[in-house]
Amino acid sequence: MNQPILNLMPGDAPFRADPSDSYTLPARFYHDPEIWALERDAIFYKSWYYAGHVSQVAESGCFLTVRIHDQNIFVARTRQGDLKAFYNVCPHRGHELVSGTGKKNIITCPYHAWAFDFDGALKSARNTESVKGFDKSEFSLKEVRVEVFCGLVLVNLDPGAKPFAEQMGDLEREIREYVPTVDELQFAQRDTYDVEANWKVLIDNFLECYHCHPAHKDFVDLVDMESYRTKTCGLYSSQCAGKPRTLNARAYSFTPGDVDFGYAGWYVWPNFTIWAYPGEANLSVLQMNPTGPERCVEYQDWFVKDGKVTQQLQDAINYQIDVLQPEDISLCVSVQKGLKSSGYNQGRFVVDAGKTELSEHAVHHFQKLVADALGAKLDPEAAQ
Ligand code: FES
Ligand SMILES: [Fe+2]
Repeated sequence: MNQPILNLMPGDAPFRADPSDSYTLPARFYHDPEIWALERDAIFYKSWYYAGHVSQVAESGCFLTVRIHDQNIFVARTRQGDLKAFYNVCPHRGHELVSGTGKKNIITCPYHAWAFDFDGALKSARNTESVKGFDKSEFSLKEVRVEVFCGLVLVNLDPGAKPFAEQMGDLEREIREYVPTVDELQFAQRDTYDVEANWKVLIDNFLECYHCHPAHKDFVDLVDMESYRTKTCGLYSSQCAGKPRTLNARAYSFTPGDVDFGYAGWYVWPNFTIWAYPGEANLSVLQMNPTGPERCVEYQDWFVKDGKVTQQLQDAINYQIDVLQPEDISLCVSVQKGLKSSGYNQGRFVVDAGKTELSEHAVHHFQKLVADALGAKLDPEAAQ
């Protein structure tokens, strides 16, 4: 890409491959509109993007929508039972075809009522009989890659992308080890948070628990921090605690269920995280969707057995909504302001060899993935 803004600039300290010898990414990576646009092309238009849960598109005619920067996509179940994804745009004059989630008999464009089947074929176009050379097959919807992974629906705008599971190595095995009933889970609810911070500030924050003791009093009461370990591997990283701290934690109470470990959280390149809380079987995705250089919409989707939220799971969800998310969002909004301060450009990663809850090595792992995807040259000593 070789944009000067991605290289070491006057006043920058080096970002190195060794986290214990590296400074953090320069602050401009978190607010500069030029870098935000470069990320869009180099990262978001080339990576697998979480779109929803397979239970939301279980039946023929069911659809869900997802927006990747300024690209609208929808995923639908065809009459033959296949899952397909398309750009959510009408090939006539460009109107959006569907919004939100739902089920339809056929996709009818709201503008002039061209109608499409769920395999993307144009079925009817009013008053086109006398249009010279009009060929319906020229106006099929443009397809996008779609895959399902542990119930998660993922789309990719890059037709040449490697399959998601292949890119992620052991991630599926790890998720199934912690949540063996993952295939029985169904979508229950989506919570939305509009945050005044760059998407990477929110990912950085997810990736370390160095802040947990000062900032999350109830989380460190819920989860055994002695056994909390962070592991980085390829395009994902994990943070797991071996056992719950107590069954009657301040955060919420539970009896041991299918999920009887303390906590498991995975970060998945580029912008989503997967969580499993102690208690009854559950999984959630918290996705950080960039909506501007300094703005992000977070979606948290909850998946529970048969899609039915019990009182115990409702307590866990309420803890996330009322306590943990507000605590993290307030930290991230403050950091975003700090990243614009003339008194700040870069910090250091606090890392330890034991990869404990106090170590920030997974933050470095993520920032290196970003720097590499952008082709940034931030280490003057490295062979470039
Ligand atoms: S834009 Fe869709 S039918 Fe005209
Ligand atoms: Fe946090």
